[in-house]
Amino acid sequence: MKRKIIIAIDGYSSTGKSTMAKTLARAIGYAYIDTGAMYRAVTLYALEHDMFSGDSVDLAALEAALPQVKITFKAGAEGRNETYLNGRNVEAEIRSMRVSDKVSIIAAIGFVRRDMVRQQQAMGVEKGIVMDGRDIGTVVFPQAEMKVFVTASAQVRAQRRYDELRAKGDTSVTFDEVLHNVTERDRIDTTRKESPLRQADDALVLDNSHMTIDEQNRWLLEQYENAVKV
Ligand code: DC
Repeated sequence: MKRKIIIAIDGYSSTGKSTMAKTLARAIGYAYIDTGAMYRAVTLYALEHDMFSGDSVDLAALEAALPQVKITFKAGAEGRNETYLNGRNVEAEIRSMRVSDKVSIIAAIGFVRRDMVRQQQAMGVEKGIVMDGRDIGTVVFPQAEMKVFVTASAQVRAQRRYDELRAKGDTSVTFDEVLHNVTERDRIDTTRKESPLRQADDALVLDNSHMTIDEQNRWLLEQYENAVKV
């Protein structure tokens, strides 16, 4: 039997991180946790409870409410992991532009991050987990046996996000708006004070601007085989 490890997949938004992390987890029989979905669920909660005024958040109200924000994952149709907020399936809503526009603001709040990180660390105690996010290899599991940092050009990433929204029937946004959202989130994610997005020194870098999904999946499996051999 192969030893169980922790696999941390970090990187920029819309690099297809989640899809590849999910595929890898399924291939090797590991649990998969999308930590971006957790920050998105908190954002949805704050929006629904009128905690935003423009781009500022009522921090006191959010901090008081956080213990009542329960985020869980359950397998839905085709075994897909779906996100639940206080027992309600919010998988579709957390991917909307309304949430995407505000999530970086929520993800920059120290007390929110501390709470999410604590929950994520608890999910990894038994290992055998693939977790994707921004700070998994640097903050959540600095001891992870395998770390991948995924990147791709902003144009390629915006195109992917745009195609995804279109495929879901969302025609309300233009490509330029999506590109703006992608670059703006990069800026906020990399320059925030609390755990900014950065590559761990011991991470393997994957630039998938010009890679097919198959090539990526094969590359990841190879890295996994190397990591469990050691
Ligand atoms: O991966 P995503 O696009 O669903 O992430 C949503 C936001 O949450 C994004 O602005 C980055 C932030 N995030 C984070 O700060 N830390 C994580 N571990 C995961 C996501």
